[in-house]
Amino acid sequence: MSRLPHSTYAPRTGIGRWFDARMPLPRLVHDSFVAYPVPRNLNYMWTFGGILSIMLVAQILTGVVLAMHYTPEAGLAFNSVEKIMRDVNYGWLLRYLHASGASFFFIAVYVHIFRGLYYGSYKAPRELLWILGCIILLLMMATAFMGYVLPWGQMSFWGATVITGFFTAIPLVGEWIQQLLLGGFAVDNPTLNRFFSLHYLLPFMIAGVVVLHVWALHVVGQNNPTGIEVQSKTDTVSFTPYATIKDTLGLIVFLFVFAYFVFYMPNYLMAPENYIEADPLKTPAHIVPEWYFLPFYAILRAITFNIGPIDSKLGGVLAMFGAIAVLFLVPWLDTSRVRSAAYRPWYKLFFWLFAINAIFLGWLGSRPAEGWYVPAMQISTLFYFTFFLIVMPVLGLIETPRRMPGSITDAVLEKSDGNSQRQ
Ligand code: HEM
Repeated sequence: MSRLPHSTYAPRTGIGRWFDARMPLPRLVHDSFVAYPVPRNLNYMWTFGGILSIMLVAQILTGVVLAMHYTPEAGLAFNSVEKIMRDVNYGWLLRYLHASGASFFFIAVYVHIFRGLYYGSYKAPRELLWILGCIILLLMMATAFMGYVLPWGQMSFWGATVITGFFTAIPLVGEWIQQLLLGGFAVDNPTLNRFFSLHYLLPFMIAGVVVLHVWALHVVGQNNPTGIEVQSKTDTVSFTPYATIKDTLGLIVFLFVFAYFVFYMPNYLMAPENYIEADPLKTPAHIVPEWYFLPFYAILRAITFNIGPIDSKLGGVLAMFGAIAVLFLVPWLDTSRVRSAAYRPWYKLFFWLFAINAIFLGWLGSRPAEGWYVPAMQISTLFYFTFFLIVMPVLGLIETPRRMPGSITDAVLEKSDGNSQRQ
């Protein structure tokens, strides 16, 4: 099954041969990122994996330097961030790169996930690759949540209070888990210390899982917009220069948008309340998490009723975690023989409804849980789970896919024939 070619690496210099005989690292890089065959029809949606890798490195680099100036002490943390903004050379840039970088990291990861859902990239033999991705997503969420607590603003403090409070809904062990997270009975200095420690640690764990993710990818090879497996050499091109050039262009465009936010609207994605120092005696009127958690926050608050022995609070927490857990099952929930939505008209329709619903859930997450927002959250949550638990399995069985090309090369040639006839 492996698509890794027999190594074509031939060191040209004496030192290259010496190195290759002892630790063939250049050979690994050459075989994985130069000669590695990729489908010839990959579109720009396939540049987001590379973008994510660069963003992860950027987050780690800016984070390590920020940590040199930051003080994880409840009485000093807020002011140490202000010191970074005003007194540290380019501290403002480091902080804005890191804070907006977190948002852009999530934009990229959501595009990457939706790409996978559209083209069926999770289907065999890429199940493990997908599951490793889901683990990365969970780790990213934990990292972002803990990072947001560090500036010790009002939203940091109250967000942490609300989120750690969820755990008390778990029967028997809930309060014990909450106290373990907090290092006491309320968000305080021990909480800040452990969150800082874990916020520093987790990105390196993410990097480790990304290595496994890319390893798994290189064993099974990339999917492509047709969802048809590579059958012959003509279906592929070498990673370099074709994919490297395309990835670089995708990255440059992404970085331009990112730079626009960093330099012209650095606080757009941040809550203004977080420029007020944490005050345990003043609860903000609305406690709203960062935008990338909003769809899950809406799902949490959609459950306003008891379900049998499960009370509404536990129900909300289960629904919220269930919304992520269900992603792990996607490779087995989708029963279709055909991978790509390009050949599945009904799946394509439901995919776009799902995408619109996810954005709507995000918007609802920013609203208070009152009035018509509550039934809207409930209907959207129902659709979210229906998509995975009913639409995916049932549609795969009953949908008639469109006629598919015989191979990737056929698909590319059909398309270029169409273009030349149009000209
Ligand atoms: C730090 C986060 C991540 C990094 C650095 C990363 C990196 C990559 C890279 C470099 C690729 C190959 C290029 C591409 O297809 O775009 C890839 C492919 C893939 N990733 Fe990720 N990924 C991340 C998160 C995720 C997540 C959260 C998921 C899903 C839940 C996921 C699922 C996949 C799948 C299914 C593929 C194969 C796509 C295909 O060949 O069609 N990844 N990833």
